[in-house]
Amino acid sequence: MMITEAKFAGSCTRASMKPSRRLPEFAFIGRSNVGKSSLINMLCSNRKLAKTSSTPGKTQLINHFLINDSWYLVDLPGYGFAKISKEAREGLRVMINDYIRNSEELVLLFVLLDSRHDLTKIDREFINGLGENGIPFAIIFTKGDKLGPNALKAQIEKNKALLSEDWEELPPIFSSSSQTGEGKEEILDFIHRYI
Ligand code: GTP
Ligand code: MG
Repeated sequence: MMITEAKFAGSCTRASMKPSRRLPEFAFIGRSNVGKSSLINMLCSNRKLAKTSSTPGKTQLINHFLINDSWYLVDLPGYGFAKISKEAREGLRVMINDYIRNSEELVLLFVLLDSRHDLTKIDREFINGLGENGIPFAIIFTKGDKLGPNALKAQIEKNKALLSEDWEELPPIFSSSSQTGEGKEEILDFIHRYI
């Protein structure tokens, strides 16, 4: 599938306040700084669409992007960001949970994990919560360009083994790089099967 048009469609803090035009949604979640906004830009071939930053905590709202006038990509704030107040972190947690539980148009959540690291306790807890709430998800490993091919493969296998401790069957898994465009075709083709 090709993305021929990507337009910012609005920001909100609750599912009930999202853009009024109801279309299928595919959302991106993961720890702060994992590369959610960069991946959306890569998929849309537009570096300026979603705001990115090397400082964690850039995305603070739920942002909808209208794709090909027929579906949405949704950029979510990161979870588990330590360097903000307890209240602010709790506010983001409530925002994320409200959106993923109450957005009827949400087709699938992409959980992003950094290719370079072992998945953290926070990632595991978040992913297990999706299982408990019956929310369909896939996993995308990000920043694949930061490791050599062998190290990347080994680290992904390690993370799959960690996920297998909690899950009998693994979800669909993709490897990506917003720098090189790796994973673009696979992820867009995967989305295309749902719409
Ligand atoms: P929050 O909005 O703060 O939750 O972060 P985010 O998950 O949206 O991350 P963002 O896309 O803003 O990227 C964070 C940093 O990682 C930026 O400096 C990006 O340039 C960098 N980055 C993201 N993806 C990649 C990638 O695939 N490769 C490399 N080398 N850097 C990346
Ligand atoms: Mg972001």
